[in-house]
Amino acid sequence: MKINRHYLDLKQSYLFKTIAAKTEDYKKAHPDADIIRMGIGDVTLPLCPAAVAEMKKAAEEMGHSESFHGYPESYGEDFLINAIQKHYKDHIGVDVNPSEIVVTCGAKEDVSNILDIFDSDNTVLIPDPVYPVYCDTNIMAGRKIKYISASAENDFLPLPSDNDCGDIIYICSPNNPTGAAYTREQLKIWVDFAIANNAVILYDAAYEIFITDKSCPRSIFEVDGARKCAIEFCSFSKTAGFTGVRCGYTVVPSELEADGVRLLDLWKRRQSTKFNGVSYVVQRAAAAVFSDEGYDQILENIKYYRRNTENMMNTFSKLGLEFYGGKNSPYVWLKCPGNMKSWDFFDLMLDKCNIIGTPGEGFGSNGEGYFRLSGFGNNERTQEALKRIETRLGI
Ligand code: MLT
Repeated sequence: MKINRHYLDLKQSYLFKTIAAKTEDYKKAHPDADIIRMGIGDVTLPLCPAAVAEMKKAAEEMGHSESFHGYPESYGEDFLINAIQKHYKDHIGVDVNPSEIVVTCGAKEDVSNILDIFDSDNTVLIPDPVYPVYCDTNIMAGRKIKYISASAENDFLPLPSDNDCGDIIYICSPNNPTGAAYTREQLKIWVDFAIANNAVILYDAAYEIFITDKSCPRSIFEVDGARKCAIEFCSFSKTAGFTGVRCGYTVVPSELEADGVRLLDLWKRRQSTKFNGVSYVVQRAAAAVFSDEGYDQILENIKYYRRNTENMMNTFSKLGLEFYGGKNSPYVWLKCPGNMKSWDFFDLMLDKCNIIGTPGEGFGSNGEGYFRLSGFGNNERTQEALKRIETRLGI
C-alpha cells in the first residue's frame, strides 16, 4: 500500500484548524478571557423563519409513510432547482437552464470535487492570497499551481498577463479573504483570456449577496462569453446562514466543452456516482430561502452583517488604519499596523484585545502583513471588539 504522497506537500494543518487549536491553547491558559471570534467566516444569526417553517414541515412529511422520501435526486429536486433558476432570473438578471443547475452540499465541497473531472496534468492559476481550499485540493491531486499576485498595487484584483497560462483558473469575487470584487469590465478580461487559452474559470460566487456596487456582477454569467468558459459555485451558507445545514449549487453551462465533451455531463456523472444528493428536509429549507418571504428575511440578515463591516470600516478609518474590502463583502482586510507580520498581529490581538482574526499569511504569501476580520458576528460583540481595538491596542 502506498499513500498519496502529495498530502505530504500540504501545510501540517488546515488554516482554520490551526486557529482553532491556538484559540483553545489560549483559553486553557486564560480561562477567564472573554474572547470575541472574528476569525472563520461562520454566521451567527439563526435560519430565517421561512426556511425553518419549511424544514419543520418537511421533517413531519418524513415521519409518515405516505409522504416519506428516500434517496433524493442526486442533482437536486425540481422544486429547489426551479427556485435557484428563479433567483438567477429575478435577483441577478441571468437566464440559466434548470438542467444546468446541480444542487450540492456547499461551495467548499464543490470547488474541490469538480477537480475529479479534470486531468491532473492541468496547470492551475490561483490568486494569492485566496481561500486555501483551492490550493490545498490541487496540491492533494499533485497539480502544478501558478500563483497570480494580488496586492495593494492591483487593489487585490489581479488581471491575467501574457505570462500566465493555465488550464484551470480560480476566481473568487467578492474575494475571500480580501473582500475585493471584480467589475464587469475586469471579469470580461478574464473571460476573454480563458476563451483564448482554452481554459476553464472556476468562479466562486459564495459571497455574491454582499455586493452593493452595481458595477460588480453577482454572477459571472452576467459577462458576455462566460457561458463558453466558466463554471459557477454558490452556496446558501453565507447567503442564508446554512453553514451548519449544508446546501449549495453549481451552474455548468450546457455549451461548455473540452475535447468535444460537455463538462456538465462529466459533472453529473461524477455526482451521480459519488453523491446521493442533499437531504429532502434541507432542500425544502433552501427553496424557502428564495421564496419572496424568505428572500426578504435573508436580506434583513445581510443588512445586519453589513452594520458590522460598516462599523469596522468607520473605526479603522478613524484610527488611520489601511484596509480593503468591507463594501461588497463580509470581510475587512486590514493591513497590520506598524508593518507587523500577520501571525504576530494575531498574537497581539488575542493577547491585548482577546479578539480572534485570521492572519493574512494563511491565505498565501501575499497575505503576509494583513489580517482578515469577519463581519458575521453579533452587532454588540463586534462593537465591543472595535472598542477594545481603539482602547487597548495602542494605535
Ligand atoms: C472562511 O472563513 O474563509 C470561510 O468561512 C471558510 C469556508 O467557507 O469554508
